[in-house]
Amino acid sequence: MKRIGIMTTGGDCSGLNTVIQRLYRAASLRGWQTIGILDGTDGLCETPPRIIEFNDNTLPIEAARLAGSFLHNGRAQALNFETAAKTGKLEKFNKQLRKSLLELKLDAVILIGGNGSLSLAWCNREIYNGLQLICIPKTIDMDIPLTDKTIGFNTAVQQLTSFCDQLMLTARSHHRWFVTQTMGRDCGQLALNAGIAIGATAILIPEIKFDVDSLINHIKKSPTDYGIILVSEGISLRGHSGKPADMISRKLTAAGIMNRTAYPEHTQRVGDTTAADRILAARMADCAIHAIENNETYVMTAINDCTCKTVSLQQFFESGEVTPDPNIPDIKTSDAYISPDDPLLDIATDMGIYIGETK
Ligand code: F6P
Repeated sequence: MKRIGIMTTGGDCSGLNTVIQRLYRAASLRGWQTIGILDGTDGLCETPPRIIEFNDNTLPIEAARLAGSFLHNGRAQALNFETAAKTGKLEKFNKQLRKSLLELKLDAVILIGGNGSLSLAWCNREIYNGLQLICIPKTIDMDIPLTDKTIGFNTAVQQLTSFCDQLMLTARSHHRWFVTQTMGRDCGQLALNAGIAIGATAILIPEIKFDVDSLINHIKKSPTDYGIILVSEGISLRGHSGKPADMISRKLTAAGIMNRTAYPEHTQRVGDTTAADRILAARMADCAIHAIENNETYVMTAINDCTCKTVSLQQFFESGEVTPDPNIPDIKTSDAYISPDDPLLDIATDMGIYIGETK
């Protein structure tokens, strides 16, 4: 009999509850015990650690599609890797996490997290010595190296698409443009995918330089006098500060283009989990359970060429662009971005969407 602990860390997204429910079910079919660690590392910092023991009624199947995490994702002000490193308490923090994991008598920890959480798990891996650490990638940003899919991304694209579909109708009525700012940090995947889905007039992403005059010309030559300019939150405009959508909106107004800004914000992180994300959650949960059976550790589940398998956390960490946090000592993350040969870039161009200066 094994005893496994599940925790969700980093920003929430749709699909977290689905993966938790699928993990619990597969574990219980094997006669294993499952505990949920509440609030990620916050729960492990408390004495005794804050946990729940799962049973068949803890997270019913009909609740598993709901957004958010049943286990919570932690409080911003709590002691965590970032705040501990900033205040010189990282060693003490790591010791506390290790002590709690040993107290909980776990055989395996399943950590459902984004690129930050996974990078931190690898960089502070001694915490998990002697346990099996299996990671499952989730994020609406799709910025995790070595996996073609992350839990929550598909639902986020759907949420953003639905939001923009509605805006498009009022845009048409008023002959005006909506500059809509998407999430995604420094990765443009969310904007690019939703932009193609809605038929945006332009998609500005951090990976591709753009020119404001070209953007303005493109809008002026558009076959419609309305539409959506999707702006990823990670773009910048030299000599300007503030929200990227506001900066672009001001430029369009100055060029006589009637526009409004729109911010879907955290609605991109919620919404009933799409079928695609539920299936992805089921595949990744199954892969994680098999990894425990195969005595694997320090691995991440990943989808590559339509196959779900594990890859080592070391490989994950070393395959991305590793950037040290300029403000926080000892914190490094491994990030993935849109590659210049991503076929969606050509598709967007062929749809007549302005995506920046690609030539
Ligand atoms: O990483 C997920 C994400 O939603 C980003 O796209 C966004 O920049 C950030 O988290 C928002 O974080 P918060 O919930 O702290 O505002």
